[in-house]
Amino acid sequence: MNIIITGGAGFIGSHVVRLFVNKYPEYKIINLDKLTYAGNLANLKDIEDKPNYKFVKMDICDFDGVYKLMQDEKVDGIIHLAAESHVDRSIKDPFTFAQTNVMGTLSMLQAAKLYWENLPEKFEGKRFYHISTDEVYGALEMTHPEGIKPPFTTKASSGEHHLAYGEKFFTEDLKYQPHSPYSAAKASSDHFVRAFHDTYGLPIIVTNCSNNYGPYQFPEKLIPLFINNIRHRKPLPVYGKGENVRDWLYVEDHARAIDLIFHKGKIAETYNIGGFNEWKNIDIIKVVINTVDRLLGRPEGQDMDLITYVTDRAGHDMRYAIDSSKLQRELGWEPSLQFEEGIEKTVRWYLDNQEWMDNVTSGDYLKYYEDMYAGR
Ligand code: NAD
Ligand code: DAU
Repeated sequence: MNIIITGGAGFIGSHVVRLFVNKYPEYKIINLDKLTYAGNLANLKDIEDKPNYKFVKMDICDFDGVYKLMQDEKVDGIIHLAAESHVDRSIKDPFTFAQTNVMGTLSMLQAAKLYWENLPEKFEGKRFYHISTDEVYGALEMTHPEGIKPPFTTKASSGEHHLAYGEKFFTEDLKYQPHSPYSAAKASSDHFVRAFHDTYGLPIIVTNCSNNYGPYQFPEKLIPLFINNIRHRKPLPVYGKGENVRDWLYVEDHARAIDLIFHKGKIAETYNIGGFNEWKNIDIIKVVINTVDRLLGRPEGQDMDLITYVTDRAGHDMRYAIDSSKLQRELGWEPSLQFEEGIEKTVRWYLDNQEWMDNVTSGDYLKYYEDMYAGR
């Protein structure tokens, strides 16, 4: 197969590209990425010279470019991750989110449709897999702030911290109720993807995943931002009371789910992906502080004084919790890591890769691209 992975230089995309390039030497993997502030080719240093890998710097909104690339590369599959992904940025600049997440997705859909429908085999053996988020479902109520025993268990979440903070979970049949400009734009793109199936028969799959954590995440997101701030003893800005709940999944487990669903998922289906692993922000922050302190040889908990409560995020969703039992039941997927193990691995990676972090926080990686692509 020849597969375009969009957004492959970003956080989740780089793990998906790495997995596919290493696992399927017989495939050609084309990483299509605009290299916005969130795209970083240093995330893929270990595979950039592999013969089955190719990087193309391109904007998904460039319809002509995308259409030509699909023809030139005889593309059979698309795994679409490219997006503006940070909620706080979407609150400040909603236009960019609508442009990339909605118009960019539409450009990818239309190019795939036009290219594939003119082939002799048409849509046979083709796949357009759209990666979406649990935020499209809106926010769940926190009916049990003290935590209750959840009805589900998985390998990753069976530890002692595994509590649910309400009886309800996001299931695939829930109505979309996005609140932030980011999730509204993702919801809109999901609707376009399904419309292309219902109208033209495009072979699509959509998945909605919970919060990912792990190596190579841009340090504007909670976990890498806080790890870096703790290391440098800078304040940790906790929004509101720190009581909001997120459901965390190790990024490599998301990449494994994407691999499984791309190959075995049913066309036109939606699958929710998550590890039944709910945490209040403040609890996860305490785990991160203790882990960083321990790994740096500081007295555990010393850096709790960095916690600084700040003004809440506008429209801050209270609770996300994914019910991924359909994926577990139908395709046999399970997360591989206990959360404590995943967090330890993640903190260790950021502390061991300070050069990567410094490069990103100083903005040096962007200057490198400006030079690399100067005059093009
Ligand atoms: P990210 O911000 O780390 O990476 C996004 C990538 O897309 C970057 O490499 C960027 O350069 C590229 N990109 C942005 N605009 C582009 C454009 N116009 N053309 C081409 N490339 C462009 O994002 P992420 O956290 O890795 O998320 C990837 C996808 O997964 C997104 O669609 C996001 O909505 C979804 N998702 C993320 C999470 C999470 O927790 N991070 C959870 C569920 C779903
Ligand atoms: O649920 C999936 C989504 O998870 C993805 O679709 C998004 O792309 C991804 O960014 C993530 O969204 P969140 O808004 O949940 O992630 P973030 O890391 O920005 O914030 C996690 C929680 O921590 C959230 O409740 C806000 C809070 N927070 C975040 C930051 C950056 C803070 O309290 N302080 C902070 O400085």
